[in-house]
Amino acid sequence: MLAKVLSCAVVGLEGAIVEVEVDISAGLPAFTIVGLPDTAVQEARERVRAAIKNSGLTFPMKRITVNLAPADLKKEGPAYDLPMAVGILLSSEQVFADASRMLFLGELSLDGSLRHTHGILPMVALAKESGFNTAFIPASDAREASLVQGLNTIPLKSLAELASHLRGEKAIPSCGADVAIEDMIVRRSAAIDIAYVKGQEHVKRALEVAAAGGHNVIMSGPPGSGKTMLARSMPSILPNMTMAEALEVTKVYSVSGLLPQDTPLMMQRPFRSPHYTISHAGLVGGGRWPRPGEISLSHRGVLFLDELPEFGHAVLEVLRQPVEDKVVTISRAQGSVTFPANFMLIGAMNPCPCGYYGDPVKECTCAPGTISRYQKRVSGPLLDRIDIFVQVPRIDYEKLADDRLGEESEKVRSRVEEARSIQRERFQSTHLTCNAEMTPVEVREVCHVEPDAQSLLRTAMNQLVLSARAFHRVLKLSRTIADLAHAETIAASHLAEALQYRPRTLF
Ligand SMILES: Nc1ncnc2c1ncn2[C@@H]1O[C@H](COP(=O)(O)OP(=O)(O)OP(=O)(O)O)[C@@H](O)[C@H]1O
Ligand SMILES: [Mg+2]
Repeated sequence: MLAKVLSCAVVGLEGAIVEVEVDISAGLPAFTIVGLPDTAVQEARERVRAAIKNSGLTFPMKRITVNLAPADLKKEGPAYDLPMAVGILLSSEQVFADASRMLFLGELSLDGSLRHTHGILPMVALAKESGFNTAFIPASDAREASLVQGLNTIPLKSLAELASHLRGEKAIPSCGADVAIEDMIVRRSAAIDIAYVKGQEHVKRALEVAAAGGHNVIMSGPPGSGKTMLARSMPSILPNMTMAEALEVTKVYSVSGLLPQDTPLMMQRPFRSPHYTISHAGLVGGGRWPRPGEISLSHRGVLFLDELPEFGHAVLEVLRQPVEDKVVTISRAQGSVTFPANFMLIGAMNPCPCGYYGDPVKECTCAPGTISRYQKRVSGPLLDRIDIFVQVPRIDYEKLADDRLGEESEKVRSRVEEARSIQRERFQSTHLTCNAEMTPVEVREVCHVEPDAQSLLRTAMNQLVLSARAFHRVLKLSRTIADLAHAETIAASHLAEALQYRPRTLF
């Protein structure tokens, strides 16, 4: 007899419905899976067989054929264990159900219990969009699944439990119906409060501007001046995410299998700081079946590249396209997937290999050639994509010994939030969220420079030899500075501050 059960695959960040057809016919006992399954799906045979037996059900000693359709979509991972098991139970008439509007997801263990499965959020979201009425998922993923409201989501601990539910013996209550999304939000941040960073007021200001408009930053300075510390305090001054942003980020973490079990919804902006030995694929994403890389894991948050020149040249160059496009497309023989990559890039570096070039106290011991070679490791095109360059000088004893704390992150963040709300209003009819995302079209529409600032802009263009991209970046940055000051148009003072963040001699 033939049974049809529906399940789901994840392609990139989106779900795709997969039909699991199970046919049981007379013949020598065999269990075949067809329809482009990968190794983990092939291994499902052993898990499904053991799980059915160990749940007190009967594994039919007949010829079993499982077809996963559509055949051209590669099926990977163990999420098809449950639908196959259900298909076998339906087809061998051990349970009866109308499975046409039900979705089954989950990996089985040999004793018949269900395990955590990656990508539950995008799959359950697809189930709702496609008009399913029930989704059966592993109980450990119940909180994640209940982010999608308006769908009857049934958490399963074991296959035996599902069988008695389908037979109508013992109904399992659906999850999440009574839990409001707001109750599931875990707001905690491990970031250092910016108040603990002594001195460096101009760097804090630069970071505030960067947070307000989503601009990229590079900090340069001698060892121990606080660059890493400042960057790590960044999450504490970034604006809160909207629910839509949080869901986007949660999807990325869900398909990467990085969603913490106790945090169904990512409400903190991500802060990723990969080590400089990271590979190409680790940074932009990749693998035979592409997975999001660090740039997608920092979507809507911060990608912090500490010791920037130490990153391989090729690794930094691949950042050029996603920094501009805010998405990354990974092509493979089997097809291509696109992941979001709308992140803020923060880089930290020493000005030279010994670290003290330009330091007023300690002498630099590097040969002149070494310094320029070191700085050239960060290429011109990448630098052209950076809005803010800031020097982080050594901090003197008086400031360091001062016991008074600086301004707290909470206060800085409230100013950032105000500037962001101006931007949200400005871009409400577009898909943009902050000034840094503006294209030349929006720059022309919203970056109005006051007449007396025009001449300053002209002089700066000529003297600093700005590229067209840098010119637009200066305007976007000035717009953010004006937003922080609640100004309608860009005044000379806003423009002057933005120009001050252009690279100087050190670059
Ligand atoms: N401005 C500061 N206020 C308070 N503490 C500071 C400051 N700068 C540095 N420190 C102290 O020095 C330590 C090292 O700072 P940090 O790691 O940020 O330096 P860095 O600039 O990243 O140096 P490197 O170039 O070697 O990476 C911090 O953990 C902190 O204890
Ligand atoms: Mg450091």
